Amino acid sequence: MSQVLYDYTRQDASGGSCVAHAWAKVPEPLTPEERRTWKARAAALLKKHGAVLVAHYYVDGDLQDLALETGGCVADSLEMARFGRQHDAKTLVVAGVRFMGETAKILSPEKRVLMPDLDATCSLDLGCPPDQFAAFCDAHPDRTVVVYANTSAAVKARADWMVTSSCALQIVQHLKARGEKILWAPDRHLGRYIQEQTGADMLAWHGECIVHDEFKGLELELMRKEHPGAKVLVHPESPHSVVAQADVVGSTTQILNAVLKGEAQTYIIATDNGLMHRIRQLAPGKTLLEAPTAGRSATCKSCAHCPWMAMNALQGVVHALESGDGEIHVAEDIRARAQGCIERMLDFTAKNAAALAQPAFVKNIGPA
Ligand code: 13P
Ligand code: SF4
Repeated sequence: MSQVLYDYTRQDASGGSCVAHAWAKVPEPLTPEERRTWKARAAALLKKHGAVLVAHYYVDGDLQDLALETGGCVADSLEMARFGRQHDAKTLVVAGVRFMGETAKILSPEKRVLMPDLDATCSLDLGCPPDQFAAFCDAHPDRTVVVYANTSAAVKARADWMVTSSCALQIVQHLKARGEKILWAPDRHLGRYIQEQTGADMLAWHGECIVHDEFKGLELELMRKEHPGAKVLVHPESPHSVVAQADVVGSTTQILNAVLKGEAQTYIIATDNGLMHRIRQLAPGKTLLEAPTAGRSATCKSCAHCPWMAMNALQGVVHALESGDGEIHVAEDIRARAQGCIERMLDFTAKNAAALAQPAFVKNIGPA
């Protein structure tokens, strides 16, 4: 196991931002034989403990396959929350990043929630410290507080609504129609996209995803010229210059569905490349291209793969189930306060399921 350092943006309550440092661990690569052995051990332990594996599309392909082969799920943040809440397993193993494990625990306090590595975090979560965020909210008491799923339980405890990328637009539209002004945190790119689409009055926190922030509009323009028939599918955590060239803007599931339902042969995809594993399985005949990050000089810092999602490994699942390490705990007062904003989102999405199933087709306006 080695460690790698990353920079991320951190805001304070006054709106000032600075660059801070975080680290991620890189699991040792496994041989094909070792992968088979660890996967079989993990499957046996899931069965023994009556546990179910809830995985995000960005984690290692072996973990995604294991989840599907053992009755778990591979999904976006919204579906992971729903699946964990409705499943009757007493133990959920959440393969993703910490806020996903916390969300599962907040919704199902009676279940044991384990994670392969509790240090798997997210630059959006790190960039929005609860005390600074609370002071920001205190300074704007007239605003409805809407937070992205990628935040700590303590930040959610301060929110009126939680949203994910698959429903953020519709929920803000709904709040705007009710005449509400919004305080948004923490992803500035997603916040700007929603503000542009809805015209809502939004005061936004200044955070970003270190993975999506690396996609480059200029390089994407060049790639589109090389592949004139390709459709461009973009996660809304990406910068404006990239979103402006999209045919579809949506969550990971919405991007996957856009490829499955799309008539084009080729798709340029601006999101973490972990998603390619599932799309390739479901749409083997389609051509998938990764949207460019740092252009021809791309390095491992801008490789379109989340370093914290990459900390999830088969060995971690085995260790968590054998030892009980990696259990998520959320203090009851925070959990109870955070639950309301998540349940509100789940109620809204259940009532508007048909509209939310459609990916957000946007007019491709070309380079910003
Ligand atoms: P979704 O799967 O909800 O689109 O989330 C993307 C993400 O960045 C999760 O960390
Ligand atoms: Fe956070 Fe970005 Fe990693 Fe998702 S991909 S967990 S938003 S850093």
